[in-house]
Amino acid sequence: MSKKINQSWGGRFNEPTNEFVKHFNASIEFDKILAPFDIQGSIAHAQMLSEQGIIEKAEFNQIKDGLEKILDMINSGNFEWSIDLEDVHMNIEAKLIDIIGETGKKLHTGRSRNDQVATDIRLYLRHEIIEIKKQINQFLTVLLDLAEREVETIMPGFTHLQVAQPISFAHHMMAYFEMLKRDLDRLTDAYKRVNTLPLGSAALAGTTYPINRERVAELLNFDALCQNSLDAVSDRDFIVEFLSIASTIMMHLSRMSEELIIWNSAQFDFVELPDSFCTGSSIMPQKKNPDMPELIRGKTGRVYGSLLNILTVMKGQPLAYNKDNQEDKEPLFDAISTVRSSLRIFVEMFPLIKTNQSVMLDSALKGYSTATDLADYLVKKGLPFRDAHEVVGKTVAFAISSGQDISELSLIDLQAFSKLIEEDIFDSISLEGSLSARNHIGGTSKVQIIKAIKIAKNSLGK
Ligand code: ARG
Repeated sequence: MSKKINQSWGGRFNEPTNEFVKHFNASIEFDKILAPFDIQGSIAHAQMLSEQGIIEKAEFNQIKDGLEKILDMINSGNFEWSIDLEDVHMNIEAKLIDIIGETGKKLHTGRSRNDQVATDIRLYLRHEIIEIKKQINQFLTVLLDLAEREVETIMPGFTHLQVAQPISFAHHMMAYFEMLKRDLDRLTDAYKRVNTLPLGSAALAGTTYPINRERVAELLNFDALCQNSLDAVSDRDFIVEFLSIASTIMMHLSRMSEELIIWNSAQFDFVELPDSFCTGSSIMPQKKNPDMPELIRGKTGRVYGSLLNILTVMKGQPLAYNKDNQEDKEPLFDAISTVRSSLRIFVEMFPLIKTNQSVMLDSALKGYSTATDLADYLVKKGLPFRDAHEVVGKTVAFAISSGQDISELSLIDLQAFSKLIEEDIFDSISLEGSLSARNHIGGTSKVQIIKAIKIAKNSLGK
């Protein structure tokens, strides 16, 4: 045979690869994003090979220099990726051989693309998890600032999207804080399972060279080694776990988006989104559309889709590596870029949101939101809760017919429904009274919210 079919594996082949198969098989279009991590892993691997006497120290130095040159070429946009070389690993290895010659061929000693790619994705993902955690931290700080600014802002709290009880806007922001804080904790926990080293597992069974896996883990800052070579090359449940957290983050961002869209509508008018984060309509000049929260709500579907995608990719695979695993990358990359850009939008947009405090206050007043407080008042005066419920129902019906909130009814009007009602009732059924009465951990009183914000700040190390 004159020319090899494929530089890496062409030895046993007699016919060239079908042109369309080349395209179908190649992952270079999307896995080149792994290049810096591939190089980082290769340098550590080569260093270990030289320390173990498997290659010469001088050979390691040549390999390292070559790989660093390649990284510079990639970073400066001077690297030509070739589809004939299939993926990021073979593109880089071929270039190394181009640059440094025969020694370049020694880099792949004692490893396989199977443990190599598993290592690359873990290096990449742990980097991205750290970045996403930074962004969540920023967003949590933004939420805390907003909560601090709006402790005194009263709004209606909803159940079934019906006005239920008055709450503080800060309390509502702190609910989001709790959700995102749990996501942050989930990422911290998942990181431990991402940060284990597959390298050394080779194709599936391990390698015959006297390698030192602990040393590679140390060089690459992995906390532990994958303990079984078959599992190490084929496991992708660290991706499933990450995508499940990414989906949960998007679910939270989507719920917030939904509320912003509702609150920003002319009908609610609780908040105004900044012009710089909205777009107009090409036909209706009066419109200012909340596209950013709409897009985040919409993009949530992509991330859920990625989770389902990878679960399905994995479900039918026998041990160990199968080419199916190449399909792990696009859903992971897409989910990461979606989560990161969504968080970025929220971090930048939330501080610019204006609250319409008087509209929220009016809305809480209009919704009979202190009806429960009237019932609680009667119970404290000795009426059984069910009877109190009945009395309040009648009072509300009367207030509706006279077009007033219950806190606007006169004492005489109120006493017509129960003789237990006295002058002090207005402390309970005013909006302020209703809030300050909920004075326990988790409640919406000002005292509790200020405490909650303080605890939250501490939890972020602020
Ligand atoms: N591009 C491949 C992937 O992403 C690399 C591993 C290929 N291994 C193999 N045995 N063909 O999974």
